[in-house]
Amino acid sequence: MSQIFDFYDYKNKVFSCNGVNLETIAKEVGTPAYIYSAEALVSNFNKLQKGLKGLNSLICFAMKSNSNLSVLRLLAEAGAGTDIVSGGELFRSHQAGVSAEKIVFSGVGKTKEEMKNGLTFQGKGIHSFNVESIAELFALNQVAKELHLKATVALRFNPDVDPKTHPYISTGIKKNKFGMDRAEIFNCLSHLKQLDHIRLEGISIHIGSQLLSLSPLKDAFERLAHLIEEIQHPIQFVDLGGGIGISYQLEQPPKIEDYCQLIHEVFGEKSKFNSKLKIILEPGRQISGNAGVLLTQILFRKQRRSQDFLIIDAAMNDLIRPALYGSYHEIVPIQAVHLEGKMKKTMVVGPVCESSDFIGKSRKLSQNLKSGDFLAILSAGAYGFTMSGQYNSRPRPPEVLIQNGNFRIVRKRESFEDLIQGELSSLRH
Ligand code: LLP
Repeated sequence: MSQIFDFYDYKNKVFSCNGVNLETIAKEVGTPAYIYSAEALVSNFNKLQKGLKGLNSLICFAMKSNSNLSVLRLLAEAGAGTDIVSGGELFRSHQAGVSAEKIVFSGVGKTKEEMKNGLTFQGKGIHSFNVESIAELFALNQVAKELHLKATVALRFNPDVDPKTHPYISTGIKKNKFGMDRAEIFNCLSHLKQLDHIRLEGISIHIGSQLLSLSPLKDAFERLAHLIEEIQHPIQFVDLGGGIGISYQLEQPPKIEDYCQLIHEVFGEKSKFNSKLKIILEPGRQISGNAGVLLTQILFRKQRRSQDFLIIDAAMNDLIRPALYGSYHEIVPIQAVHLEGKMKKTMVVGPVCESSDFIGKSRKLSQNLKSGDFLAILSAGAYGFTMSGQYNSRPRPPEVLIQNGNFRIVRKRESFEDLIQGELSSLRH
């Protein structure tokens, strides 16, 4: 395996994270289990922070990618806020100690209850709401009015650029449900006078996820810069969303330095805005993606002439990305000895009763891998656990954080009782 993941590698012939042996963890905690490297999370965050030096900036971690409280707390301590999309994520942010002025609320469908919770959060209200339609703007104004408060708002602009990513995670083209085009933004502005409880301070964008080129972002940023000049309303901040891709296989994602350079050029000190704008970012995958792996154990080998099946104990309910997007996740043996010797084309599948339940197709894996051996599924730190479910009544896996050469369980494995919580009371009749 080429060394594509900075914090994971073989040590004494066993796949390890920051020097911590992952086989030991698999045996102690059981499998499947999500593993996160604290060092990787903080280092990815710091890289971005460093690139933004000189700007008035705020990095709001897109916690939909990984919302474990210990992960959030770690990033909050490093200086991050959160980009949230639900009342549940607001609640988690509070539990993790994220401060109100570092939270931005995105999403096309906020309920009145969620608006209220955001406006009153920690007694002062969150930093801002990214508003995605005129209807939402009116609804937010109404909720703020009832509370005798003002809502700080960024209008989400849909710049209509093709991010050239998987269609399910593209958000910045006209046909997507997200954001507002130029005419819709102007329509919002024309109603501002009636909206006494809205304080319009920003414009936001987010064009898609797992972007592997900066050019659509450059287009989008330039369209945004143009819009800000056009609207003649005092704008204090721009929220540039997230979206920077990572390497799952051999992709070459944009360099963080180049991404930051682009931000400096379009919105920074030497731009036409000369440092007047605060810059907010909402990165998710770039921070958490390659910081995590999913550990799994082989249950059975099923031999076929064209290719073998390795049936593992992790399934699509634990990691849905391959089934949902056809995503590639590198699969490596925990014991380095299996990197050598005869390889065989292998389909790596879980126990769930669906043919879409695969983690890897046509992989070249050692013929000697057998029942009881452990594997690591890489790049599983983003949109892994957060998209997991209990399909086939499978309890969700635990989450483990590795920090300073030690590991600790930061979310325990669900039990069978956890599966029926909430249903028990209905059996009493
Ligand atoms: N901001 C907004 C408004 C978003 O919708 C998203 C992601 C982000 C920020 C963070 O994007 P990132 O930096 O992580 O690319 N489940 C899919 C990804 C869905 C992304 C949804 N929005 C996957 O597993 O690939």
